[in-house]
Amino acid sequence: MAVLEAWYMDESTDDQRLHHKLQPDQPVSLEELKEVGVLYWKLNADIYEDDPALQKIRKERGYSYMDIITIHPDKLPNYEDKLKMFYEEHLHLDDEIRYILEGRAYFDVRDKNDRWIRIAMAKGDLITLPAGIYHRFTLDETNYTKAMRLFVGEPVWKAYNRPADDFEIRQQYVDLLQRS
Ligand code: LAC
Ligand code: NI
Repeated sequence: MAVLEAWYMDESTDDQRLHHKLQPDQPVSLEELKEVGVLYWKLNADIYEDDPALQKIRKERGYSYMDIITIHPDKLPNYEDKLKMFYEEHLHLDDEIRYILEGRAYFDVRDKNDRWIRIAMAKGDLITLPAGIYHRFTLDETNYTKAMRLFVGEPVWKAYNRPADDFEIRQQYVDLLQRS
């Protein structure tokens, strides 16, 4: 199975759903993603309801909560507003954990020099964005994804738009980055 693809984004303000690759392309490896605290697993999404590999990750990492969200113009109430909101640069006080079951999506994260890295997520990709990382989310031109949202304990969806540098978790994250 193909490994996760990620790249540095161009500066264009065109449609967020486009790939926004640089020319020439500047790919980002899984190793580099790990350096900013992003973890990745490839799973078989066809068996997500009864997948021992998923159960193992959930158990080891304490991902007790899960639900499934479908993001599509006809399926999600207030679709346009939500998409706009998801694309505002923000952070959370907890890890953001997403597993793509169908369709595709982009997660953008800031690297340690504040450059945007775009992560292309497709069926079978599970990632964890660390608490305190600035990030945003969009669909691509296919306008559809079905994703599992995982969480450690009771979910908290609250997002803090940038600037949100005063949170302790943000400071901890920045310290961690500087040591990597
Ligand atoms: C979230 C994604 C959109 O916070 O980053 O749900
Ligand atoms: Ni988020």
